[in-house]
Amino acid sequence: MIEIQPLTRHIGGRLTGIDARRLLTPEEVKAVDAGMEEYAVLVLPDQNITDEQQLAFTANFGPFQDGANSTERRQELRLDPAFADVSNLDKTGQKLARDDRRRMASLGNRLWHSDASFRVVPANYSILSGRVVVTKGGNTEFADMRAAYDALDPATKAEVENMICEHSLIFSRAQLGFEAYRPDELAGMKPVRHRLVRTHPTTGRKSLFLSAHIGTIVGWPQPEALAFIRDLTEHATQEQFVYSHRWTQHDLVIWDNRTTMHRVRRYDDLGTVRDLRRTTTRGDGPTTEQVAL
Ligand code: OGA
Ligand code: MN
Repeated sequence: MIEIQPLTRHIGGRLTGIDARRLLTPEEVKAVDAGMEEYAVLVLPDQNITDEQQLAFTANFGPFQDGANSTERRQELRLDPAFADVSNLDKTGQKLARDDRRRMASLGNRLWHSDASFRVVPANYSILSGRVVVTKGGNTEFADMRAAYDALDPATKAEVENMICEHSLIFSRAQLGFEAYRPDELAGMKPVRHRLVRTHPTTGRKSLFLSAHIGTIVGWPQPEALAFIRDLTEHATQEQFVYSHRWTQHDLVIWDNRTTMHRVRRYDDLGTVRDLRRTTTRGDGPTTEQVAL
């Protein structure tokens, strides 16, 4: 029997009664989708899955997001390109060195973000499998962008209703002072436009589409835009909207990037191994029209 226990007042549920290693029935897929609509983040404990099983599980929830991964060259990847490698390891299984540029890029995950918000069609679900977890630090935190929207005052809700933001990996990484790009990487980093307020297609609930990848608001001077986005982010990530996930090995955590932001907390990545593997489903379409930049 499928059961979901709430993890906080607004966000997060612990789902038991599904074996992610096996083919899901249509009823099970529906139950997960329904759980996601309610909780936005689901934790499925004890899912000791292989890469192949994770790919098959993910396919139940839509097409795969392309380019959800970093900008690494294929030959440098440790995992099948359908995965985002959320580890501190290189291709040979060695921990990345302190000054490795791949490590620098992955430090962007320490900022509150929504996966692939820098793509014209951003992600729906992210599905993250804890293969090797750490005992100190390394929690993944999730903030509920529906509850954050609901808690805005009416004047702010009216102000943000039709606001359009520009997102790019360049913006999030620049926040950490990372600017060393190869020309072939820059091609995939052109800013894309997204609505700041999104409406969930089935629940009809509105949410704030915030992300560290935001670099400006269309029609605003950039400093004013970034100051405002910072205020909204501070509002949206207050403790009452957050679930902090402490990892146990073989946890499978699913979140909806339309309705949440997430970030990883600091851990000793130079001294301990953390191997998490993410698959990602692609959203239903652009959130707004694009312009040629
Ligand atoms: C991700 C991510 C956070 C973590 O997988 O998209 O941001 O806990 N991971 O490593
Ligand atoms: Mn992420």
